Amino acid sequence: MSKLLPMLKKAQNEGYAIPAFNYADIWELEAIIEAAELEKSPVMVASIPKVVDAHGCSVLAGMARPMIERAQVPVILHLDHSVSVEMCKEAVDCGFDSVMIDGSKLPLEENIASVKSVVDYAHARDICVEGEIGQIMGRGYEGNFEGGDYLVQVPEAVRLVEETGADSLAVGIGTAHGFYKGEPKLNFGRLAQVRDQLDIPLVLHGGTGIPEVDVQHSIRLGMCKVNVGTAIWHAHVQALETVFREQGLIHTIDANEFAKQKIREVVTNAIRMCMSCGKAE
Ligand code: 13P
Repeated sequence: MSKLLPMLKKAQNEGYAIPAFNYADIWELEAIIEAAELEKSPVMVASIPKVVDAHGCSVLAGMARPMIERAQVPVILHLDHSVSVEMCKEAVDCGFDSVMIDGSKLPLEENIASVKSVVDYAHARDICVEGEIGQIMGRGYEGNFEGGDYLVQVPEAVRLVEETGADSLAVGIGTAHGFYKGEPKLNFGRLAQVRDQLDIPLVLHGGTGIPEVDVQHSIRLGMCKVNVGTAIWHAHVQALETVFREQGLIHTIDANEFAKQKIREVVTNAIRMCMSCGKAE
């Protein structure tokens, strides 16, 4: 049976969220796992398609698997935001624990069809599937959270879950990927309406820059996985810039050891925001 579903259900029942962090390389992966161990938190480590395109699913899984096996906390290897059914299947074949098929930009019927085909393939191999409905805005550096038609439509969410059997669902409630241009405005009312109709674990995307109070309110309303990405690579690149500016050219190992401390700080704060400290079993 999949390891992830009981973790998400436990989080849902106990009122915290599983933090899910995007990583692009071994340094970020190590920093995430080390911080999770210090906080005794379960954690998800997730690759976006840009990272998969650069390295391939088998290399990513091969790098992560030994680190996951020796980790002192549960670590779930996840494929994030794949728009390709084929990439999801490849990740399943390579040993990922969980995949996301993001058909949120497609018409509903096509979204349902692509989630269903990933679910059929993944469930036969005990792997979890996350779908998405309603759009999470802003794939660039700065999110655009204005407007309304990107919000999850409750009947569509119900149909997608009922017709696909997805294990978890990312729902657009006004969050955006990347840094926010102003204060994010989350639509808690819409989240409550979704939760009222669906018992499935819900996923909050765009975790970078959402005030802690809003994240925790959305957790209380039913979000039980929170994604954080931009804050990770931003801390990494900024730390490298600092170390090269202050120390000149130093070995990549030393530069990245410095960067890891900074990434761990970001991860620790996010874990505390998710209220998942001490929840590793
Ligand atoms: P941020 O980059 O805004 O933290 O969002 C991450 C995310 O939602 C990945 O799926």
